[in-house]
Amino acid sequence: MELSQKALRIKQSSTMAISSKAAQLKAEGKDIVTFGVGEPDFDTPVHIRKAGIAAIENGDTRYTAAAGIPALRQAVCDKLKRDNGLDYEAAQVIISNGAKHSLMNVFMAILNEGDEVIIPAPYWLSYSEMVKIAGGSPVIIHTKKENQFMLTKEELEHAYTEKTKAVVLTSPSNPTGMVTSYEDLKMTADFAVEKDIFVISDEIYEKLIYEDDKKHISIASLGEEIYKRTIVINGVSKSYAMTGWRIGFAAAPLEIAKLMASLQSHMASNPNTIAQVATLAALNGSQDCVEEMRLEFKKRRDYIFEREEAIPLIHALKPEGAFYLFVNVTGTYGKKHEGVEIQSAADFAAILLDKKFVAVVPCADFGMPDYIRLSYATSMELIKKGMDRIEEMVQELA
Ligand SMILES: Cc1ncc(COP(=O)(O)O)c(C=O)c1O
Repeated sequence: MELSQKALRIKQSSTMAISSKAAQLKAEGKDIVTFGVGEPDFDTPVHIRKAGIAAIENGDTRYTAAAGIPALRQAVCDKLKRDNGLDYEAAQVIISNGAKHSLMNVFMAILNEGDEVIIPAPYWLSYSEMVKIAGGSPVIIHTKKENQFMLTKEELEHAYTEKTKAVVLTSPSNPTGMVTSYEDLKMTADFAVEKDIFVISDEIYEKLIYEDDKKHISIASLGEEIYKRTIVINGVSKSYAMTGWRIGFAAAPLEIAKLMASLQSHMASNPNTIAQVATLAALNGSQDCVEEMRLEFKKRRDYIFEREEAIPLIHALKPEGAFYLFVNVTGTYGKKHEGVEIQSAADFAAILLDKKFVAVVPCADFGMPDYIRLSYATSMELIKKGMDRIEEMVQELA
């Protein structure tokens, strides 16, 4: 029987594919170091875990409103005001099963068949697939390393057509770690207002910035006109080490928020009630835990970048935020490891996993096939071990 063409067109998540291969090798007893999945290695802070336990004990175990509990929707409004200078009412905020689900809701709410969504590459691989699931067409812009992987006005103009419905922005970026400056945000905001298109602003790494002179700015805060066209996406997975709790949120113009709530009510109902109560503790409680984790990530960022810089043939820009190092490996092309020639970043990653038991993500699915991504959301000890092995592999190339 014929299955859904839409579903068949969707690519398997390559980050997940790498982790399952790495998990398989681990199960075979191999000493694997993984720089694969973007997940903080910290435990969820104690006060948040306790709030989850209390939620169970207090009987917060039933359905809630599909868009989330009012207290949490309000806490998100308070957070957006406090951190981003944004004014939202609770009705404009939808709580979902992770930022990924929030993004899917947005695409479902705004796209019609054939609508185009501009996605600057390198991009987090799920955007393009989500756009396709929602019936849209991803239009990829390949940003340039010499522009710090930032979009230019010319690139936007070039990608724009009458069918363009939205542009996706991610700052700090997964996979480059770059933070978009006020000037670059302003350029995109002006473009979106002029063309009357939406901006989907994924701010999930907002709390993880390591340069004192870099600040997270939400594009929605740049004026009334861009506010009306922006959907802000955020969540607690990365900043509060809460990946498994599955809570993300979107803040949008009321009309779009209502559509997202309606879609979610039919497709998923409310996100987990216990996790919502825990998220309330995360957003309303002390933010010291976020700063502690940021400082630890910063140390790791400094270390991994220093190690990478010392390895010949591979190159990266110093990441300013998130927890990824985005490494160009074209310098190794044409070289051989134990007789096997490297012709792509995928080859580089395959040899690294097979011979040195280090898992990294080749970035073809992020729109940049000459790069690998290393997630440094892992211990210093493992980062050191992994970088020693990458160095060893590159030294063995002939
Ligand atoms: C840029 C970006 N957006 C969204 C997400 C999804 O986050 P969540 O775990 O809240 O669904 C990720 C996770 O890797 C991400 O890197």
